[in-house]
Amino acid sequence: MLEDTSFAIHPGKEKDTNTTPYKRIGTLQAYKEAKDTYLFECTKGHVAIKFYTDSIVRIVMNPFSQPKLDASKAVVAEGNSVEVKVKDQDQAVSLLSKHLIVTIEKETFSILIQDDKGHVLLDEGNRGMGFKPTGEVITYKKMDKDDHFYGFGEKTGFLDKRGERYEMWNSDVYIPHNPETDPLYVSIPYFMTLRNGRSHGVFFDNTFRTIFDMKSELDYYSFEAEGGQLDYYVMAGPEPKQVLEQYTYLTGRMPLPPKWSLGYHQSRYSYETEAEVREIAQNFIDRDIPLDVLYLDIHYMNGYRVFTFDEERFPDPKKLIQDLKQMGIRIVPIVDPGVKKDPEYYVYQEGINQDQFCKYIEGNIYHGEVWPGISAFPDFTDEKARKWWGDKHQFYTDLGIEGIWNDMNEPAVFNETKTMDVEVMHRNDGEPTTHRELHNVYGFLMGKATYEGLKHQLNGKRPFLLTRAAFSGVQRYAAVWTGDNRSFWEHLQMTLPMVMNLGLSGVPLVGPDVGGFAHDTNGELLVRWTQVGAFTPYFRNHSAIGTLYQEPWRFGEENESIMRKYIQMRYKWMPHLYKVFQEATKKGLPVMRPLFMEFPKDEKTYNINDQFMIGDNVLIAPILAPSVTDRAVYFPEGDWIEMETGNVYAGEQVHLVHAELDYMPIFVKRGTAIFQGEIQSRQNKSPKQVEMHIFASPEEHWYEATYYDDDGETFAYENGEYLELKLKVVHSTETITITTLEHNGDYKPDYVEIPIVIHHLSKHQTVIMNGEEINGRAVLTL
Ligand code: GLC
Repeated sequence: MLEDTSFAIHPGKEKDTNTTPYKRIGTLQAYKEAKDTYLFECTKGHVAIKFYTDSIVRIVMNPFSQPKLDASKAVVAEGNSVEVKVKDQDQAVSLLSKHLIVTIEKETFSILIQDDKGHVLLDEGNRGMGFKPTGEVITYKKMDKDDHFYGFGEKTGFLDKRGERYEMWNSDVYIPHNPETDPLYVSIPYFMTLRNGRSHGVFFDNTFRTIFDMKSELDYYSFEAEGGQLDYYVMAGPEPKQVLEQYTYLTGRMPLPPKWSLGYHQSRYSYETEAEVREIAQNFIDRDIPLDVLYLDIHYMNGYRVFTFDEERFPDPKKLIQDLKQMGIRIVPIVDPGVKKDPEYYVYQEGINQDQFCKYIEGNIYHGEVWPGISAFPDFTDEKARKWWGDKHQFYTDLGIEGIWNDMNEPAVFNETKTMDVEVMHRNDGEPTTHRELHNVYGFLMGKATYEGLKHQLNGKRPFLLTRAAFSGVQRYAAVWTGDNRSFWEHLQMTLPMVMNLGLSGVPLVGPDVGGFAHDTNGELLVRWTQVGAFTPYFRNHSAIGTLYQEPWRFGEENESIMRKYIQMRYKWMPHLYKVFQEATKKGLPVMRPLFMEFPKDEKTYNINDQFMIGDNVLIAPILAPSVTDRAVYFPEGDWIEMETGNVYAGEQVHLVHAELDYMPIFVKRGTAIFQGEIQSRQNKSPKQVEMHIFASPEEHWYEATYYDDDGETFAYENGEYLELKLKVVHSTETITITTLEHNGDYKPDYVEIPIVIHHLSKHQTVIMNGEEINGRAVLTL
């Protein structure tokens, strides 16, 4: 308690910092090539360098033994065979691929990495890499005055992470997420540097506690780990989008989520009974607010035992789930990793009898306290336990459930350290390893187990998984929400950079608890947050036990009707969003993008925290503070059309935009196009009609528009059952010329044509489609 008072800064309490100096790796003695890998022997250790593609190189330092080239489970790529030239000079040796040059200074073993044009990406200067006898590994890189840093997974604070120091150690943090709250639930030891319009990436594949320090020194930054190898990949970019493509080449991309998971979700800790769940669902129907998912938080279980229902509160879950599905609403239950220690509980019995729980090296099971009381934790690092856990989800899928919510999977434990004992010895698929090393991947592997189990049981349908804890690569299995935020305006503000940086860390399907989880929300905050939520990739309203209920109708009719409008708007924008999600599955690009991703040459965009883009042409400028009805909006290059008013704003400058509570400004870049839809019914929320909107430009300009659709619920798209149209729209003073470039895939949607609406067409412009002048209605025939 005294730690919350000035006693915390008592002069006698100065931190005892570990000042043992690092040892450098020493001088280069010899090197050789073996199977696409270059092995360097130094006086104090070993380094391996391997190219994965022309644009990705991996560097592994091991001071104690030959570098191990197996990677963490985050990495899916094995690498291609890359043509590398070796240039050996007096002082240095260089390895050259098509896009990267790695130069090693022989005397000090300092590494310099440049791109094919000679631009410096990473320069160790006179600091290099090193280690401590106690096992820590570290490397320093020169920090350029123009460096901006992004990524790092889930962090509080602003978009640009220059001047910050971050730790990666998955942690359950309930106390307010403020700018110095670090670490949180997710560890993604990856970042992107943007320097003068060019970018490159670094992925530090080390699952121990790691630290990234862009703060302590003026001209160097560093990254270090508590143990393991210094094992990192450098991605050449140079466009931010290419860095993401390269990073997700290594760590994998998101499969297409089921369309229903992209709609509106309503949650509460907890809707405690079947009657309450039905009442909430009915309210959405009666009030004409579209809803795709309702969550069951921990109260649905019998004494918080996973894979059970409380028979009194939920007497007939199957019927409930079926009835709600008829109403077009899916149920997603929470599943935590802790299995209650109870000899009469079947999951605990199975876990013990089949030896599935985490243990100490001596063989005793690790027990820790979570919601159900003393519990054991499945050892997800082992395939046997993953399979067991995955199979157990048949319990839910047999009831008609298609989505699961994983929580407390850092793992959270109610003790001083907040987690499992780091001495627990995980089985780790035959290579026993301590929790100290595998802590950060525990939740990720729970996600893998769950997703794979669900996928198997759902027989070709796409599962949905939501997780709180994660590591690099989580996008292959789960959506991530940003944990226990609060109903503070500051947390609404923080949502934007947080979600954008998660997107820049390879995780496209992300969002906050809309309205705020802890603390009481209020009507104005909930309205503004719902407006933002309508465009965050994952859109769920969730609130904590003991706080005011915050469903959209709880704060009067006026607020309700604004929220209805924005939740409906989410569905109207679904065709555009779905296309951007599809891009995420192909290239790993974020759905909610910082402006710099589209305009990397425009320095003004490098730290914009209160605006974002959806795809390459839609710009959103929400209101993020109480009583504010006007705001400054920065527009990058081009002209921008305000959707609601048709007003045109010239780019590369700031304009003042008016936005009463019922309005959130949305702009589309002039000269581009978007697709919007209209939902069929409450039950079937796929579009019955899609329209293409072209925003005519009076200037010479062209844009390639893509339309994508599929059945939205199966993996048939992987076998050609999709519809992809690529269109070129060329604008000039006299004509708007629309040409179908490609029509791919076999999927036939219910709608047979896409009408085209052209906005801001001047009377001097005629419309030409696939070679013919159009006088009446323009349509794309499918
Ligand atoms: C944790 C989760 C929260 C959930 C609660 C009860 O605090 O972050 O979302 O509602 O546990 O399960």
